[in-house]
Amino acid sequence: MAAILITGGAGFLGSYVCERLLALGHSVVAFDMSNGEKIEHLLSNPSFRFVQDSILNAPALEREIDRSDIVVHFAAIADPKRYVMEPLVTLQIDLQGALNVFQMASKRKAKVIFASTSEVYGKNPRVPWKETDDRVLGSTHVNRWCYATAKAAGEHYCYAYHQSEGMTFVTYRFFNVYGPRLDDLGSGRVLPIFLKQCLQDEPITIHGDGSQTRTFVYVEDAADGVVRGMFEKQAENQVFNIGSSQELSILELAQKLKEVGKFSSSITTVTHQEVFGNSYEDIPRRVPDVSKSKKILKWEATTSIEDGLFKTIEYYRRRSQGQCAQV
Ligand SMILES: NC(=O)c1ccc[n+]([C@@H]2O[C@H](COP(=O)([O-])OP(=O)(O)OC[C@H]3O[C@@H](n4cnc5c(N)ncnc54)[C@H](O)[C@@H]3O)[C@@H](O)[C@H]2O)c1
Repeated sequence: MAAILITGGAGFLGSYVCERLLALGHSVVAFDMSNGEKIEHLLSNPSFRFVQDSILNAPALEREIDRSDIVVHFAAIADPKRYVMEPLVTLQIDLQGALNVFQMASKRKAKVIFASTSEVYGKNPRVPWKETDDRVLGSTHVNRWCYATAKAAGEHYCYAYHQSEGMTFVTYRFFNVYGPRLDDLGSGRVLPIFLKQCLQDEPITIHGDGSQTRTFVYVEDAADGVVRGMFEKQAENQVFNIGSSQELSILELAQKLKEVGKFSSSITTVTHQEVFGNSYEDIPRRVPDVSKSKKILKWEATTSIEDGLFKTIEYYRRRSQGQCAQV
């Protein structure tokens, strides 16, 4: 059984990966600067430990990496509202923090599992995107690209550390993962925004005209993909798309949410400029080609959007009525 460190392990996706690894009998440490609300239910497990600290605190991070066989690097600023409004903090955490992890894991000869993002493809119009497809990003004066740029630099570091230092890695590009525990309803990710509006019986505000498309992968499916690749020899030193193939426009997502949750909110639109000023530029279509993940990880998303939304809505309903903690 392996000793596994998960930076960002008390986050949304990290909390599910912790659960799965513990169920498989591994020893798991979540290293995260949050208050640990999302992993509270794991604290009594003797194979689990929570370290509340920042990946920018190098000595604290190194102490934990030095005890690990595998380092899953999920800690990041991943909320669009934050990376548009706080580009410096985003770059410090998503780039410098990742570099800390790679340097220390490489020295320790630990395997690295790196969370990248579909954002690295930018606005490449030729969907679906294969892992080897081009990155088409906007100008550096638009803050929104700082997140994609930091994550892409992280991917380059993985290849470079592998080439120069023999570090073993697996990189995942996640495409809009959703589910219970996603975020507080004040975050800037699309589903929490819509859900908050629905639960408060307010109009759903779509940013832009709603024709932009995304695919949504349920968190349990995504966590399954992460764990499969972590222990698959053939996956080593490669990048994988983790997403669903079902393309939905944001307008369709809003309609589906209303339908599944039986919400009565109306649907309105606001321009990106009204929300983010000039620091944002939207991606018209975002669709993964998941054939490589199917072939090598033997993985594909299996939860339908209706089932996934139903479970997510139920969770946020219970939380908004004060009936459940984060789990
Ligand atoms: N959820 C998605 O749809 C999605 C899509 C693409 C990529 N990703 C990537 O997957 C990873 C997990 O995303 P998530 O959705 O679970 O996000 P999340 O925000 O829930 O989790 C990130 C965690 O990192 C922690 N963190 C932030 N800065 C830190 C620091 N300096 N030191 C220690 N911990 C810190 C946060 O407290 C949080 O718990 C991230 O790297 C994200 O960029 C997620």
